[in-house]
Amino acid sequence: MTAQPRDFAGRVVRWQRQHGRQALPWQGTQDPYRVWLSEVMLQQTQVATVLAYYPRFLQRFPDVAALAAADLDEVLGLWSGLGYYSRARNLHRCAQVVVGEHGGRFPASAASLEQLPGIGRSTAAAIAAFCWNERAAILDGNVKRVLARVLAFGEDLSQAAAVNALWARAGELLPASGGDMPAYTQGLMDLGATVCLARKPSCLICPLEAMCAARREQAPERYPVRSRRTRRSSQALWLLQARARDGSVWLEKRPVPGVWAGLYCLPVFDSREALAEALPATARRRLDDRPAFLHVLTHRDLHLHPVVVDLPSAALRGREGAWFAGEEWPSLGLPAPVRSLLSQG
Ligand code: ADE
Repeated sequence: MTAQPRDFAGRVVRWQRQHGRQALPWQGTQDPYRVWLSEVMLQQTQVATVLAYYPRFLQRFPDVAALAAADLDEVLGLWSGLGYYSRARNLHRCAQVVVGEHGGRFPASAASLEQLPGIGRSTAAAIAAFCWNERAAILDGNVKRVLARVLAFGEDLSQAAAVNALWARAGELLPASGGDMPAYTQGLMDLGATVCLARKPSCLICPLEAMCAARREQAPERYPVRSRRTRRSSQALWLLQARARDGSVWLEKRPVPGVWAGLYCLPVFDSREALAEALPATARRRLDDRPAFLHVLTHRDLHLHPVVVDLPSAALRGREGAWFAGEEWPSLGLPAPVRSLLSQG
């Protein structure tokens, strides 16, 4: 590992002001509600996707009080398709804590933001840097990669001690002036997302190239080091797409915790047999198997097998769920693949 690179922060700041992303809808504001919402949406989700959800969400919930007063179901409905639904549940809880315990104002420091539901250390620092110029370091997955490369930080980031050491380095690299914090923070994020890519980084256009120790070793891809990878698993699920004569569909609320926790969903089964057994014998002969498709979650590949069947509306009595008409289901919180199945009919 190397000594402190010279003028690291200055280079990031100048690059961000010239070449970084400037006109994103959450950049023109220091309103903590708007910045917080954007940062939570941007965790694990690409800017292009968030651009579609952010204005709609703000229009419905223009401030933290509106969000706190909302029904969780409506919040999940507006979140539907963004994935990682625990973010939406935490968002709602966080709004209620801000209103109930902080008089409707976000507490104005990274350390106090980090106490709120769904706000981790890096997100707290980003909000505090953007809203109040606080000198607090961020360290999300992209920034870990940038710093590990610039510093040729060879410790194993699957170990908490190594991550702590990198947090300490991140703190040492901050700009001296709080006024530079928004550009610096955004610059690190932009570098990680657009230049210092995991595979095939664009070192030739990187403002840190001259000081990058991994570049000197001609092996940027060797960093960051992670010995333990989270193993992906895969699972096959059968989805019962039951339709009533009037065109309504049967939906059930998913248990918490679990896949799609708290969302409305088609009934889910581990096998086709289990799905068939849940139906009256007369219906079992009329099952219409649709092509299976892959839906990728963070740590799991789901192989989804939709099965369509027309049923009398009494057929699912006894299950915990309800029929929803064509005008009703689109506004529910639904997993994206289920929404897409339902819109295909
Ligand atoms: N990812 C997390 N926060 C971000 C931001 N403010 N801009 C772009 N990407 C981000």
